[in-house]
Amino acid sequence: MATSLGKLGFHGKMILAPMVRVGTLPMRLLALDYGADIVYCEELIDLKMVQCERVVNNVLETVDFIAPDERVMFRTCSKEKDRVVFQMGTADPERALAVAKLVENDVAAIDVNMGCPKEYSTKGGMGSALLSDPEKIEAILTALVRGISKPVTCKIRILPTLEETVSLVKRIEKTGVAAIAVHGRMKEERPRHAVHCDYIQAVAHNVSIPVIANGGSLDLIKTYDDIEQFQETTGASSVMLARAAMWNPSIFRSQGMVSVDEVMEEYVKYAVRYDNNTFNTKYCLCQMLRDRVESPMGKQLHAAQTNEEICEVFGMTDFFKKTMAELEAYKKALDANSSSLSDQPVLDGDVITMAIKFERREYPPQITPKMYLLEWSRKEKLEQPVYETEQRAQDRCFQSTVMVANKKYRSTLWEKSKKFAEQAAAIVCLRTLGVPEGRIGEGYSGLVNKRKREEKKCTTSVDESSADLAHRKRRLTEPSQKEEQESNDSLVVVNGSCGQTVS
Ligand SMILES: Cc1cc2nc3c(=O)[nH]c(=O)nc-3n(C[C@H](O)[C@H](O)[C@H](O)COP(=O)(O)O)c2cc1C
Repeated sequence: MATSLGKLGFHGKMILAPMVRVGTLPMRLLALDYGADIVYCEELIDLKMVQCERVVNNVLETVDFIAPDERVMFRTCSKEKDRVVFQMGTADPERALAVAKLVENDVAAIDVNMGCPKEYSTKGGMGSALLSDPEKIEAILTALVRGISKPVTCKIRILPTLEETVSLVKRIEKTGVAAIAVHGRMKEERPRHAVHCDYIQAVAHNVSIPVIANGGSLDLIKTYDDIEQFQETTGASSVMLARAAMWNPSIFRSQGMVSVDEVMEEYVKYAVRYDNNTFNTKYCLCQMLRDRVESPMGKQLHAAQTNEEICEVFGMTDFFKKTMAELEAYKKALDANSSSLSDQPVLDGDVITMAIKFERREYPPQITPKMYLLEWSRKEKLEQPVYETEQRAQDRCFQSTVMVANKKYRSTLWEKSKKFAEQAAAIVCLRTLGVPEGRIGEGYSGLVNKRKREEKKCTTSVDESSADLAHRKRRLTEPSQKEEQESNDSLVVVNGSCGQTVS
């Protein structure tokens, strides 16, 4: 497939390296603010990613990839769209391709991690385990290059000899990857060991794709100017920084670094704004604190359990409250806007949708749209409406889809409770079909109101306890018993002692 490098290019670029827990959206945005050209996300494992659902988060203005357990695995936004590289851990070409296809429209490129020496990676054949399986490397990269329309890159560690390393990179080059990041350490070497600039240099000399030099953080790169020096020493096209950027991402700033305290504050702002996982926020801030991690501030940070408590540590409680209030107001405005936008049904795939909220005050007590829909379905001799509800992770709100006569109906607006979400879906269905829904002022429809009124009258006149009435309801409405118990919304088909059938 044809790929466009867009803003990537990989020539003369300063790149934020992939870093587990560190490389989430706040750090990536901060690195871009300070001057990084390209940012890699933390490594995400293909097995987890293939199960994710892509969800547009209108409140945060992000795109989220949400796991079945509701964890946000990957969150991204338009600001980084043409500069974020999605790194995955994989040992399986098909799965890798499935993940790449899932995210490709939201990222600038896809990278495969072939350098992680940790057991959790290597025992699944991923990370640096791939380095001794070049066929697998070729299969994965070829599948990706052919299967997606975005550039594909990979990140390796060096092999025991220069020749082996160059030979592997030449094989990789043939797969059509757009660039290769070379971490100048062998898989057995630890981060404290010296980086082998000569290996990176040999690779850069022997291939024509851009080589990204990595591994210089500890002793070679301490300032912005060192980045360029590292590129010259290695002869690489670009430089990728992990630890130096984790300790202070303003290393990407051409005018010189700003203080870590200032950086931490900016980081916390992004973490709150984008609802970053608290554990990751803490981890990242602790890395920035470095030897101050045992200070009173470090200990307070360590004890924090929420982003709000983290804000307290940095004297940013007001900021936290203001941001939360802004997000809440934005959410309300969005909801109000979409409800005023249209009452017209819109087809979304096979689902008929409308922007509708269920407002309890618009209906008389005991009357709901669900009741109306159920009663109408019975009258039309249709199967009972079937509701399916999902809950989204970011705010735990609900959205229901109701199936009636083989057609699906759903409100595009999310509700605070499952019951309300079902009512909203029922309204969409009723309004689409032009069937009364029981709203105050709608007038008598013959479906539910009268019976409910009658029921109330009878209940009062015979002074029945509600338990007795409920018992009789259950006995007399056998076909809808389950529905009645579940939702407390179905109708009384026979009106207690009055004995009137309604429909
Ligand atoms: C906290 C942390 C997390 C890391 N996570 C990843 C990762 O997810 N994927 C990856 O390819 N490398 C990962 N690495 C390795 C770095 O990307 C980089 O290769 C290594 O730190 C050497 O670069 P440096 O000298 O600039 O730190 C991680 C490193 C650190 C310090």
